[in-house]
Amino acid sequence: MDASCIGIDLGTMFTTAAASNGGRSCIRSEVGFARDAIAKHLIGEDIVIGELVNKHRQALSVVRPFEQNSLKLAITEDQFRSIVNTEHQPSLTAASALVSHTVQSLGIPSESEMRCVVGIPAGASIYSQRLVIDLIEAVTPYVAVVSEPFAVGFGLGSEANSSIIIDIGAGTVDYCYYYGAFPSEQDQATLGYGGDHVDEELRRVILETYPDAKVSETAVRGIKERYGSVGETMKKTIVELPTRDGRSNKFDLTELVRETCVGFANKITNGLAKHISSIDNDDFFIDGAKILLAGGGSQLHGLDEYIQQALSIGERCEVSRIHDCKFAGAMGALELARSLPEDGWQFLSNFKPEVGRDAA
Ligand SMILES: Nc1ncnc2c1ncn2[C@@H]1O[C@H](COP(=O)(O)OP(=O)(O)OP(=O)(O)O)[C@@H](O)[C@H]1O
Ligand SMILES: [Mg+2]
Repeated sequence: MDASCIGIDLGTMFTTAAASNGGRSCIRSEVGFARDAIAKHLIGEDIVIGELVNKHRQALSVVRPFEQNSLKLAITEDQFRSIVNTEHQPSLTAASALVSHTVQSLGIPSESEMRCVVGIPAGASIYSQRLVIDLIEAVTPYVAVVSEPFAVGFGLGSEANSSIIIDIGAGTVDYCYYYGAFPSEQDQATLGYGGDHVDEELRRVILETYPDAKVSETAVRGIKERYGSVGETMKKTIVELPTRDGRSNKFDLTELVRETCVGFANKITNGLAKHISSIDNDDFFIDGAKILLAGGGSQLHGLDEYIQQALSIGERCEVSRIHDCKFAGAMGALELARSLPEDGWQFLSNFKPEVGRDAA
């Protein structure tokens, strides 16, 4: 096939993409709109994406289009109609700018026909699916959506056969039983809770326990990523934070970080047990199956052993992290776009939801 192929993983925190020309892109999923005419003049743009958002953050109104599971997961029919019938919808404008910027950054010649496979949460509503398809169709007419963990499995190939892939992201945790064919609805599930929710919870308990402390969302995420652990040994977490009197102080966050991370690991494990019981495939046995952890949240220290112990699966089932937690979704989506023959595209197109757009 001569067309250029693209795989995109529209993540709540990072939008990653890979193209058949070797182009790769990983951009923080946030878009800044200049706060006022002065900011626009000084920055030289009214919309800013990627690294420039950090540089000018104070002068921007920053939108994370996929945060709180909006747009790509839980859009209802009424929300869909309201979004498509409103001229300036900040999250949609931001998402659209993010998608265009991502595709442009791949360096694909403009005259090239593009085929694109996009990873979205397994449990995305048909309205969220439609919104994502519309967003990508504005850039390229050939678009298919698949679940994020299925894309990961497809990219891993035979290594992923008979495995449950758990993609642990910032907005959701997605489960998929992967067996080398397109998964049915029962083979996939989404937990509408992810790393962002863990950060929110950790920030809440820190401020509740230490009312004098100040801790930003970014700082709390950094603390979780550095010290978070559900392994057997507790990581001593003494962190210097700014305080309300304008100074700073050292705070012992060991228990708070531990408890919040264990709470998350419990949610992941409960979701996994529920997913396993809903798999309607007579050939599925947990004995000999593999559990593969993907997504940034898979880096949580000790999570593999925690799942193994919590489900009492011992030696019968191996839990491991995949090698590349950043690009696996985009690479799998690219692999799908690249290797699908015409009838494969037809097959995936059948899953595109058609929804009415009339004003409610
Ligand atoms: N060492 C770590 N321990 C715990 N969490 C981590 C670690 N490293 C990264 N994370 C978390 O992983 C999440 C980002 O993962 P990822 O990039 O896969 O998300 P995403 O694809 O953008 O989100 P989603 O798939 O839910 O839309 C963030 O919440 C981040 O804090
Ligand atoms: Mg993701």
